[in-house]
Amino acid sequence: MRFLITAGPTREPIDPVRYLSNRSSGKMGYAIAEAAIEAGHEVVLISGPVHLDRPRGAAVISVSTSDEMFAAVRQHIARCDILAMCAAVADYKPAKVSKSKIKKRSENISLELVPTRDILASLPKDRKYLVVGFAAETEDLEANAQKKLHEKNCDIVVANDVSAADSGMESDQNEVEILFRDGEMRKISRASKKIISRDLVEYFEKYFEKRLTKKIV
Ligand code: C5P
Repeated sequence: MRFLITAGPTREPIDPVRYLSNRSSGKMGYAIAEAAIEAGHEVVLISGPVHLDRPRGAAVISVSTSDEMFAAVRQHIARCDILAMCAAVADYKPAKVSKSKIKKRSENISLELVPTRDILASLPKDRKYLVVGFAAETEDLEANAQKKLHEKNCDIVVANDVSAADSGMESDQNEVEILFRDGEMRKISRASKKIISRDLVEYFEKYFEKRLTKKIV
């Protein structure tokens, strides 16, 4: 199968030297890319700025902003069977990017933010590939993940609680809940992102097959 995986944060420029971003390390997306390669799949990895070695055997496309990630996904989507949107795409970006460095002053300043384009929500509803969204939540994990599954029209949502310091973002460990569109749910308890990724790749493969055989819509 052909996997298209996004990973890491995006950077939304404020001026030539500053940007808005988040704490995503890219570890989960890179681990999924490695697990998919290990399982014999073809992988295209669209990566935001991270400090990780490129997974051997993956075609890596480096991007920085949410707009660049949007364009890269759109460019490669037609050739994939499974899209795993693991990236922590910024939800907002500055309304204007200053061409010159904003000078320091003594008074308060405010920054107007506009929503970024939602890559997941922009995908066509009628499609052959499987869409996996990720939900990083600090509260009401299950309810928010369920909402995301339907609102963003995903086939699967992988949800993790990022409020725990030793799990989720930046950590080598994670624990996740997997919500499927047909109503099924699975949990993977705390383990390394490497182990979790192997299970995830298997779940994705199985659900893809299940959908192909039209057992679900
Ligand atoms: O809405 P929220 O950002 O919490 O949703 C997370 C999921 O949506 C992730 O799979 C992320 O990659 C995706 N996303 C996206 N485009 C955005 C923001 C998030 O595809 N602009």
